[in-house]
Amino acid sequence: MALHVAIDGPAASGKTTVARTLARRLSVPYLDTGAMYRALAWRALETGTQPADEAALMRLLTREPIEALPSHADGSAFCITIGGRDPGAALYGPDVSAAVSAVAAHPNVRRAMVERQREIAAAGPVVMAGRDIGTIVLPAAPFKFFLTASLDERVARRAAELAAARQAVDIVELRRNLERRDRLDATRAVAPLRAAPDAVQIDSTGRSAAEVLALMLELVGQEAHR
Ligand code: DC
Repeated sequence: MALHVAIDGPAASGKTTVARTLARRLSVPYLDTGAMYRALAWRALETGTQPADEAALMRLLTREPIEALPSHADGSAFCITIGGRDPGAALYGPDVSAAVSAVAAHPNVRRAMVERQREIAAAGPVVMAGRDIGTIVLPAAPFKFFLTASLDERVARRAAELAAARQAVDIVELRRNLERRDRLDATRAVAPLRAAPDAVQIDSTGRSAAEVLALMLELVGQEAHR
């Protein structure tokens, strides 16, 4: 069985940081599945496609397929492109963040993304982060984590990230956006955010990324190298 690690959790729960570092430490590539949904939302906004219009989104996806390409010299992460373009930091802009949950709620969009994600996993080991990795994408993954953190902590972390990237921070708006995304992601009809019954749940409130990583490495690292 290939080394597949599934990491799920709500927005700004710290998944990305720990997933990327864990992948590096295990020498396996990292796939941020949220970036795939964000890439489609980004192109939808650019092309004037309504996030609520599933058929139009599917036509866009057919015209401009999403690819996951090894991005670093050490092969430690996949870079997401759409129609051959790398959206870069635009994926994390406020417009994309506000539109992405609606895009990710469509069953056909999800089917296409999940198919692509499973192909990547079939090709070899991967640390995959998202909302439905342990439940839907890789239900047989030998390692599953569900990361949570309090809303206050998640707002503070996202604010610090934005400040570090020299982007404007509006705390009230940030909190509203996170709450809205939590609600949409957790209540959608298809593949709602929830922990797989066999996932190890980690509450990262008050814990540093290094502490969370150490916990995960304890569970994965030793067995992976046994
Ligand atoms: O992890 P993120 O915040 O970059 O994810 C962006 C959005 O994509 C999020 O609102 C929910 C959706 N998403 C999803 O539905 N399934 C995934 N596997 C990953 C992300």
